[in-house]
Amino acid sequence: MRQLQITGYGKIESNLKFTEVEKPIISDNQVLIEVHSAGVNPIDYKIVEGALKKVRKLIFPAPIGFDVSGIVVEKGAHVNHLNVGDEVYSRVPSESPGTFAEYIAVNADVVSLKPKNLDFDEASSLPLVGLTTIQSFDKATLKSGDKVLIHAGSGGIGVFAIQYAKSKGALVYTTTSTKNVDWVKELGADRVIDYKTESYLDIVKDLDIVYDTLGGNYTLEAFDVIKQGGKVVSLVGEVDKETAKELNLSAIIRLILSLKRREITKKSKEKTAYYKLILMKPDRTQLEEIKQLAESELIKPIIDKTFPFDKSIEALHYQKSGRAKGKVVIKIK
Ligand SMILES: NC(=O)c1ccc[n+]([C@@H]2O[C@H](COP(=O)([O-])OP(=O)(O)OC[C@H]3O[C@@H](n4cnc5c(N)ncnc54)[C@H](OP(=O)(O)O)[C@@H]3O)[C@@H](O)[C@H]2O)c1
Repeated sequence: MRQLQITGYGKIESNLKFTEVEKPIISDNQVLIEVHSAGVNPIDYKIVEGALKKVRKLIFPAPIGFDVSGIVVEKGAHVNHLNVGDEVYSRVPSESPGTFAEYIAVNADVVSLKPKNLDFDEASSLPLVGLTTIQSFDKATLKSGDKVLIHAGSGGIGVFAIQYAKSKGALVYTTTSTKNVDWVKELGADRVIDYKTESYLDIVKDLDIVYDTLGGNYTLEAFDVIKQGGKVVSLVGEVDKETAKELNLSAIIRLILSLKRREITKKSKEKTAYYKLILMKPDRTQLEEIKQLAESELIKPIIDKTFPFDKSIEALHYQKSGRAKGKVVIKIK
């Protein structure tokens, strides 16, 4: 079978190649998925560039890709909730990527039936962004009536997060550039802030939650716009104490990280605020929740571009441009 592989750390164009490899052999707890579509996420190109090598060092050649939709073609003896022929989707575990391939063996615990009303491209665009957002808003204990700021409403995370927060009854503010304002409004955001012409700092205040998808100064500024006791959940900010523990980092690295987040610690103390860097985890129950949300049309997938398997490297470049309007998908079959 054909698989895209990472051959070394560095530039996308010189460190990826297609290879013929054996079809995976499944264990008793796994299913073999014939991949139809694979969702692309920023983590895919970041891994190639080596941004995560301190947390998980790759052995080359290494498979790539985390989001998948496809058909179960084999199942292990201990798999009860799925059958051969089922149309499924998953965000595969971080230790075993490889959805940019014709087949992938996945632990069935993290595989769910895909939403019935979505095609394979659409279904593959939801797992990672959906799970991340559900886990982020769980940590922030989102409730109806909360005032929430979602940065980058036109990005892969943003398009899911706006619809999810609205489905929970939140009042949603979001930021994007002029060209995206109209279609982002249609996703249900109450106030779309055009960052080219307005400053969100003049518009939002006393927020319950900031969902920080941008990092850097945006993480620090989040503490200026939350209410006393508000919450900042970040996907790209500094590592907090709890997350450093989850990552099992050494005492010296934890010390360095505590120095790096000094300003965040100071600002969060001033606001008696909660701060957390989210590291999403695969979760079947939450995939089933996303399936329900999609089937009841509370969430619709927004796909910017679909690339054929042969053009996977272009797909990663496009994702890396940082200008995607929703999700990027690779069509494998
Ligand atoms: N920690 C985790 O578990 C986790 C999980 C998922 C994602 N992430 C991270 O979260 C980040 C966002 O992911 P994503 O999939 O949403 O990325 P993405 O799809 O690449 O985001 C692209 C969007 O960002 C918007 N954007 C760029 N700069 C902006 C700004 N200054 N203000 C407002 N919008 C801006 C762009 O809109 P314009 O063209 O209008 O600027 C574009 O639509 C990535 O860094 C990703 O690695 C982390």
